[in-house]
Amino acid sequence: MSLGLRDELAAAAALPNDSPMGMSGAFYTDPTHFAHECATVLRRGWHCLGRVDEVPNAGDFFTLQLLNEPLIVVRGDDGVVRALSNVCRHRGMPLVTGRGSINRFVCSYHAWAYGRDGALLRAPRMENAGFDSKSCRLHSFGLRAWNGFLYGNLSGPDVPFDAGFEGLNTALAPYNTAAFRLVHTGEELWRCNWKALVENFMEGYHLSVVHPQTLHGYTPTGLAKKTVSGEGFTSYAANYPDSTPPRGSGAPGLNDKERHRSFLFSVFPTQVASQAASLLVSLSILPVCVDEISVKWTMSVYGDDLDTQTIQQRIALWQEVNREDREKLEWMHRGLSSAHAAAGPLAGDDYEGTIRDFHRWLAAMDATMAQG
Ligand code: FES
Ligand SMILES: [Fe+2]
Repeated sequence: MSLGLRDELAAAAALPNDSPMGMSGAFYTDPTHFAHECATVLRRGWHCLGRVDEVPNAGDFFTLQLLNEPLIVVRGDDGVVRALSNVCRHRGMPLVTGRGSINRFVCSYHAWAYGRDGALLRAPRMENAGFDSKSCRLHSFGLRAWNGFLYGNLSGPDVPFDAGFEGLNTALAPYNTAAFRLVHTGEELWRCNWKALVENFMEGYHLSVVHPQTLHGYTPTGLAKKTVSGEGFTSYAANYPDSTPPRGSGAPGLNDKERHRSFLFSVFPTQVASQAASLLVSLSILPVCVDEISVKWTMSVYGDDLDTQTIQQRIALWQEVNREDREKLEWMHRGLSSAHAAAGPLAGDDYEGTIRDFHRWLAAMDATMAQG
């Protein structure tokens, strides 16, 4: 067990605010530490799986893999959205791939059929006296909806989710995040550690350096300001220069300041998102192994604020921004693998204070779970 890294994390979290430090490279590259995270903070965490309006009608579903669990997120005939295990109760075959709409899930191996609520409906030729179809439901995981996002949990529905989100709820309320309408989803594999993308998305320090053409004009590093943080989340404002024209008016409750910035937030451990007046982008960071993540991202818009051409431009812009970040993180992973990748000093609160929030939360969770 990598007690060395856990001790290093606890020590970094305890440093005074004016001398923050990052973590050594092994935090991002050591398979033993990753296995520890999978068994603790990742297994216990609530992970954003997507948006509620990805499955608007009964039978609509999408699939994804959360750690070692293949999942189906599906809306039932009763209108309830569930996160079902995508594993046949007969001999373990995954039932379905991709996304779509379906009446029942029929296993491709021996044709067992399950309803949209996970109940086993049919098992051909199963006539053994001891066979009870009711005991062969698909497992159902914890699922919560919050602000139009869906969050899944592998440990059970009783793990607290948003108890500490008061400040985040207040910050998001004027945007009416729940009302945003899905216009795009994408999924890709990145060769980096999951925490590296959480940190990258949540710090404004790199914006002008890594994104000179795509973001610097809208959200320059110099205007980044740390905003509210709390138990289980952090945020910062990527403010627009005064000369930038408004980018859609958004919800009626927004003030000028809120219309003139992107509000970037992370719901720990694995969601990062950018909330602007008319545009909402969210990345679900699904860890595959210590050096690989599946990134599922969604883009949503407010009402009819943006026309079709503008939406297409925004999708292309975010594809380019993601490509720029991915290139950097995949390259940095090589550096982090060095035995000489010692912990470095972090920049101040407005630039990298969110990384410090993340590390403090990870350290607190680690300490809690070590006691439990
Ligand atoms: S494994 Fe699914 S029906 Fe046999
Ligand atoms: Fe970036």
